[in-house]
Amino acid sequence: YLNYRVPRTRRDIFQTLIKGLQRLEYRGYDSAGVAVDGSGKDHAASISLYKKTGKVKALDEEIYKNNGIDFEAELDTHFGIAHTRWATHGEPSPVNSHPHRSDKNNEFVVIHNGIITNYKELRKYLVSKGYEFESETDTEVIPKLIKYLYDNRENEYVSFSTLVERVIKQLEGAFALVFKSIHFPGEAVATRRGSPLLIGVRCQYELSTEQIPVQYNCGKSGSLHPFFSNQCFHDRLAVEFYLASDASAIIEHTNKVIYLEDDDVAVVMEGKLYVHRIKRKAGEDPVRVIQTLQMELQQIMKGNFKAFMQKEIFEQPESVVNTMRGRICFDSNTVILGGLSDHLKEIKRCRRLILIGCGTSYHAGVATRQILEELTELPVMIELASDFLDRITPVFRDDVCFFISQSGETADTLMALRYCKQRGALTVGVTNTVGSSICRETDCGVHINAGPEVGVASTKAYTSQFVSLIMFALMLSEDRLSMQQRRLEIINGLKKLPELIKEVLALDDQIKSIADELHHQRSLLVMGRGYNYATCLEGALKIKEITYMHSEGIMAGELKHGPLALIDKHMPVIMIIMRDACYKKLIYATDDPEISKMAYKTIELPQTVDCLQGILSVIPLQLISFHLAVLRGYDVDCPRNLAKSVTVE
Ligand code: F6R
Repeated sequence: YLNYRVPRTRRDIFQTLIKGLQRLEYRGYDSAGVAVDGSGKDHAASISLYKKTGKVKALDEEIYKNNGIDFEAELDTHFGIAHTRWATHGEPSPVNSHPHRSDKNNEFVVIHNGIITNYKELRKYLVSKGYEFESETDTEVIPKLIKYLYDNRENEYVSFSTLVERVIKQLEGAFALVFKSIHFPGEAVATRRGSPLLIGVRCQYELSTEQIPVQYNCGKSGSLHPFFSNQCFHDRLAVEFYLASDASAIIEHTNKVIYLEDDDVAVVMEGKLYVHRIKRKAGEDPVRVIQTLQMELQQIMKGNFKAFMQKEIFEQPESVVNTMRGRICFDSNTVILGGLSDHLKEIKRCRRLILIGCGTSYHAGVATRQILEELTELPVMIELASDFLDRITPVFRDDVCFFISQSGETADTLMALRYCKQRGALTVGVTNTVGSSICRETDCGVHINAGPEVGVASTKAYTSQFVSLIMFALMLSEDRLSMQQRRLEIINGLKKLPELIKEVLALDDQIKSIADELHHQRSLLVMGRGYNYATCLEGALKIKEITYMHSEGIMAGELKHGPLALIDKHMPVIMIIMRDACYKKLIYATDDPEISKMAYKTIELPQTVDCLQGILSVIPLQLISFHLAVLRGYDVDCPRNLAKSVTVE
């Protein structure tokens, strides 16, 4: 957070930084830290670091315990950085948490999201040059490297941004980085490659420009001076900048944001923002657009619910409507997904559809594969992004590859996207986050419009991904005469869906009472087949990730081929039995045509079209996992070891 000619007390500055971190708590983290200018008259001549393991609140308390800080001191211009860490290299501890520093004087401090894969080589080199490391992290090579470059600049004038450019030339892996230095007081430099980074801008006046021109080739010394006339915050006297990896951290301050692209270096200097790159590549966009976000803060608040996850489960009657809004015409039985219209011909001619995702997003592919095959008559492959890459799967120019991702930032999915793009396939994003990397890098796409999903366990995004893929199948089969009856049935089913979801949610008390009986169990199996196999996988994933019980989704057809051995009278089993083509086969598993007589407890769901039934059948499992987690005393929104957005491989 950088304020330029906007007087703020130290208390305000800390609060802005801490609040920003708290807005991102849902992503999962194990420690947090902050760097601000030191006290004293020439405050920018030193940097103070505060770090703490655990919740952001613990860091906040740590800062306020500090008697040396004059919280009421007013600073006209100041730049502070803060970070929450999710350990990848080195245990959670203050020394391993960010900001990381170049040396004991904190000459350069850095925050980093992502992973540096060549850190061992860099560290070895820097150690050989006499630099001492204090943490076990990959990140620490970055502040050390920038200091090394600064110390060895000889007589050349080197700008802060040039130093950063030189640093990123040496880095391999994924990163979003923000740098602060006592040598460049009040100046912020940020850059990214593979990890998201955006800049929010707030000033007294309406921003007069919609675009920031990207500057190229800033001269040997990297000085930006020749380009001053080109910059766009030219006449702004007082301005605040918010650099963040996610818009929810800054949305309460401004809705004007600029998303940086890979290898952009953004500099804020004297209240002006510059974006520059080393060289312009063919086809590259030479401007960065200032976007106005529509997201409201209240949208991301918990309301009266115990947890975001619970709130999001109960939002599903509205979120599926938002997914369909303006896209389905119930009078003419047509479906138009605007983001795909330009590529429809190409999609219809393709060799096969490949649906790629991770976790819950992958399950949305499993759930809709059958209806996609039926309506499009195309071969449909479903792929876990990590495995798809591990196999170096053959992909062709006439393949259409879908990248399903709530966050739009999942590293494995993003890499699979780049892999398919390189091979010439048409790439389609199915995401919930406008402006995310997957959105920007795909050829075309569908926004699922489920609204911000805060709970780490994905719920409403799943049902909206499900509906989006069904709409795609409907759009593709519009001119198939033989499919019209089936299409009509599904479109009518979609129309009634929100009401049916409400009916399922009304069963919450009944579901809670089952959770009351189950919460001491160690294991829970979920079985089903056909259209509802995905429900089993997704239900079991919800149960394991937030209740820490062992759970498995089992394809009932496979029962006799192994999993049956797990079954004895102590093993609780949830069977998903719907009145569809698989009904009879599943009943045999219970040996009785009357399910309610055979089952210990039955939850009866409203019936819909077979291919939509999975949207209803997953909700009791979302609810049961929520209740089990609460009963077992766990933090539903922040399950251990998990993060909302997995931006590392
Ligand atoms: C489970 C869950 C994860 C995500 C997975 C992919 O509840 O949320 O399995 O589905 O990490 O994330 P996105 O959809 O953001 O690509």
